[in-house]
Amino acid sequence: MMKRIGSILLAVVLLLTLMGCTRSAAADGSLQADEPQPSPAAAPAEEEGAPAEANQKSDVLVVYFSRTGEQYNVGVIEEGNTAIVARMIAAETGADLFEILPTDDHYPLTYNELTDVAKREQRENARPGYTGQVPDLAPYTAIFIGAPVWWGDWPMILYTFFETNGDALAGKTLIPFSTHEGSGLSGFDKKLSAACPNSTVLQGLAIRGADAQNDRDGVQEKVKAWLSALEY
Ligand SMILES: Cc1cc2nc3c(=O)[nH]c(=O)nc-3n(C[C@H](O)[C@H](O)[C@H](O)COP(=O)(O)O)c2cc1C
Repeated sequence: MMKRIGSILLAVVLLLTLMGCTRSAAADGSLQADEPQPSPAAAPAEEEGAPAEANQKSDVLVVYFSRTGEQYNVGVIEEGNTAIVARMIAAETGADLFEILPTDDHYPLTYNELTDVAKREQRENARPGYTGQVPDLAPYTAIFIGAPVWWGDWPMILYTFFETNGDALAGKTLIPFSTHEGSGLSGFDKKLSAACPNSTVLQGLAIRGADAQNDRDGVQEKVKAWLSALEY
């Protein structure tokens, strides 16, 4: 008799154990915390047609060129004046950022030497090279493009950018901005239109470099007002 009761108890324990094993998922189908999670290798492959440029988060891009070191009116700076404005625009619009960096960083860090190099490049109508991979411009509908005014014009390295990417910039909306110490926008918009005749150029913004360094709240207000007038 005792042997028979023992067999029944064993059968019940076995049955309960089996039931426990089959509960591999909760009622809603979600996995239980103590279960092995799918390994990354088992995750679905990236969808076809996903953007090739991994960093692309927005359909707006801010491209800028800017220098640190000794700058007019502000002494030696660690964050370039144009870089400050570029980052404000990106923060306000959620845009991606791309900085144009000169090949071999060939621009001097002292103001007088830099003005000499810039003047020579302008006189020679040079096309200085830049480093870094320009992001795929295809996904961007609007591109803000900013630089310091150098001798009343875009730094020549910007013309390298316009010409190298001429086809990719065609059909885009381009929005120029400058930092300067008195010359304002210096015709950046008209010069941009001439360099990129198949793009639409919107109204630009000019900010004093010293204000970018020393009056960030004031500059932020100007940036916001300009963006809002452009409906960004
Ligand atoms: C080579 C050079 C040329 C410049 N030419 C002008 C100019 O023609 N008009 C002007 O208002 N400011 C001029 N500046 C001042 C810069 O435009 C200004 O300091 C700018 O904010 C620098 O920006 P960054 O720090 O982004 O390089 C010049 C500065 C340099 C270095």
